[in-house]
Amino acid sequence: MSSVTSKPLFLRAAAGESTERPPIWLMRQAGRILPQYRALRQKFPDFKAFVKTPEAAAEATIQPVDELQVDAAIIFSDILVIPEAMGLDYEMIEAKGPKFPKTIENQGDIDILRSGTEAAANLEYVYQALRITKKELNGRVPLIGFAGAPWTILAYMVEGGGSKTFSKARRMLYAEPQQAHALLQKITDTTIAYLKQQVAAGADLIQLFDSWAGELAPAHYQAFAMPYLRQICDALPEVPKTIFAKGAWFALEDIGQSSCQVVGLDWNTSPAFAREKVGPQKVLQGNLDPCTLYADAKTIREETLRMIGAFQGKHIVNLGHGVYPDTPLDGVRVFVDTVKGMRYER
Ligand code: CP3
Repeated sequence: MSSVTSKPLFLRAAAGESTERPPIWLMRQAGRILPQYRALRQKFPDFKAFVKTPEAAAEATIQPVDELQVDAAIIFSDILVIPEAMGLDYEMIEAKGPKFPKTIENQGDIDILRSGTEAAANLEYVYQALRITKKELNGRVPLIGFAGAPWTILAYMVEGGGSKTFSKARRMLYAEPQQAHALLQKITDTTIAYLKQQVAAGADLIQLFDSWAGELAPAHYQAFAMPYLRQICDALPEVPKTIFAKGAWFALEDIGQSSCQVVGLDWNTSPAFAREKVGPQKVLQGNLDPCTLYADAKTIREETLRMIGAFQGKHIVNLGHGVYPDTPLDGVRVFVDTVKGMRYER
């Protein structure tokens, strides 16, 4: 239906244009929900080796487009490639998650980190994966590039992994605020250089994942997260930007004033509340509870249509967080097909 010259549905929606239906993609769609992903993953000794093989990363990126017919692809990589490029190595431990053998504890640890273009030069494998994907997609759907938001990256670098409380990272903001700002600025400089190269390699839209946004007090989000998100968005005028700040309903007004086009929502935030906070211009993305997809087909259809109704347009359909790896593929299919089969009433 769409010709090579017409702007794809996903990018029209991201630009705030009115569309015949909302586009749909899923956070974490390039991953373990797909049997073909699990098969490809088997060929590598670990997750990092997979991420660093551009041909394989491109294949994983395209798998959900082939299998589910989603309206956008997201490059297969991870937010933790940034700390590694800056000089802080991580391990991805099977069935557990990321672990940093060494963490950031003091100013000296921050001083020795690489940053900006020097750090971003270590991520050539991501740019190559984007170029290959772009070529293989051949205009079928737009390609989303991404990075972690500076606060979330700081949290991993200071905690050394996931955490129940993030008390080490939050403590740094109170006890050593200058160190926190120095680290956030280095992460930001690296992220900007990295994302500029992603755009040069073919990314059509950039999403910033602030997975641990909800851990911060509102004033801390304003002081330690927003200024860096603004710097990144302002540095990338060539493409639309999406800010997904999970749990940060309290920051929606500030995010609404940033230069991003799209605001991602978790399932705890109602579309009406978000619209009131961000104002009329922004496009909203989300926000079905990922657990909906474990329900029967009828329930998934009803919940999906109810959600779309609540957004009232200017909407990109997604889940409120990444799809859980054990989600039945049939549930995912019902979700995607429901959206692709509906039309807005005019
Ligand atoms: O969305 C996509 O399909 C693109 C690929 C993608 C991955 N990670 C692949 C991945 C994206 C966009 C991410 C982002 C990411 N990574 C975030 C932000 C989004 C969110 O979920 O809040 C975060 C916090 C990470 C860090 C991370 N990576 C963790 C905590 C884990 C372990 C937990 C888990 O899901 O297994 C990862 C590993 C990871 N990243 C996997 C995938 C497909 C699973 C590892 C595997 O296949 O062996």
